[in-house]
Amino acid sequence: MLFGSAEQDSGAILSREQSRLLDRLAMEQYGMSGLVLMENAGRGAVDVLCRLEGCFRPAEARDSCFPDSYLKEARMSPDLKEAPTRPETSVSNGPSVGQLTSASAASLRAESTWGQKAFDWHRLQVRHQDFGGPVVICCGRGNNAGDGLVMARHLWLRRHPVQVFLWSKPEELSPDAAANYAILQKAGFPIECFPTGHEPERLAQALAEASWIVDALLGTGARGQPRPPLDTVITQINSAGKPILAVDLPSGLDCDTGQASQPTIRATVTCTFAAAKPGLVRPEAQEYVGRLVVLDIGVPPPLLPQVLAYSPPEQSTP
Ligand SMILES: NC(=O)c1ccc[n+]([C@@H]2O[C@H](COP(=O)([O-])OP(=O)(O)OC[C@H]3O[C@@H](n4cnc5c(N)ncnc54)[C@H](OP(=O)(O)O)[C@@H]3O)[C@@H](O)[C@H]2O)c1
Repeated sequence: MLFGSAEQDSGAILSREQSRLLDRLAMEQYGMSGLVLMENAGRGAVDVLCRLEGCFRPAEARDSCFPDSYLKEARMSPDLKEAPTRPETSVSNGPSVGQLTSASAASLRAESTWGQKAFDWHRLQVRHQDFGGPVVICCGRGNNAGDGLVMARHLWLRRHPVQVFLWSKPEELSPDAAANYAILQKAGFPIECFPTGHEPERLAQALAEASWIVDALLGTGARGQPRPPLDTVITQINSAGKPILAVDLPSGLDCDTGQASQPTIRATVTCTFAAAKPGLVRPEAQEYVGRLVVLDIGVPPPLLPQVLAYSPPEQSTP
């Protein structure tokens, strides 16, 4: 296999606290930098996005992205000839995530230890069909936004049109997100910034043209209802009628309980990192999560069991 992680999906579930511990231990015990983890996360999500739909416009760009062997496999796939099938996704104007037959889609699912049908994105094939339009990446100000900024760079590298919107002052971005913002800025990549508020008409124009929308507004660091202006942004994204890829978790969804805020992103696909999160596998969260893809971010294998064995200390009552 050329990319990633589904085969390494252990079926593990990490709470918000365990996810943060995993990141911290990867850095403190193994000397991995947060930027490396972020790079792996963002690049992994781009690999998924590019395989989900014919995300490549010019043939030469598409062909330069994958080794010949991969393209040969993709071209030979009978799935490529099939009409989109994903009845559970209500994408009105945009392309559907499907292009799999029901039978092949079913064969791509395997029972995971948490009882959920895991989706083996490895076996998805690129559909060589140009549906056009930029990927619109919507970023907040934490590390989740940093993942989105990494995605922008990798989509740009693959010559796919991409547009980035940021709801933060650049100086208020988390350090790793700020580093990725600086890379794009130094490279002359334009980013539309809303430092304090929101201009719905500017976003609406971009969403109307979008092929996919990436939700990198809020991740595991989110607490409570999305605050303005992110609540309005989420509502606008949901109303756009385009497929949505949520980074780590759909913004508005509680990572641990799966409780949806009003509003919460209704993702077509959620790319989560290192392991599933409790909220993502709750039955009531499925309408927000869409297809769940677990991507590794390069942390050494012994770390996951170490973190899973960790139970938080009892809360002391005053
Ligand atoms: N180690 C890594 O670098 C690494 C590795 C893999 C993935 N990630 C990514 O990083 C994410 C976690 O990053 P993070 O801890 O920086 O958290 P985050 O979820 O990206 O965002 C935290 C930011 O959102 C704001 N916020 C929190 N709740 C909010 C709400 N309800 N409405 C509006 N804004 C809100 C916070 O501001 P206030 O403080 O003012 O509330 C804070 O600035 C993961 O989900 C994953 O995507 C990071």
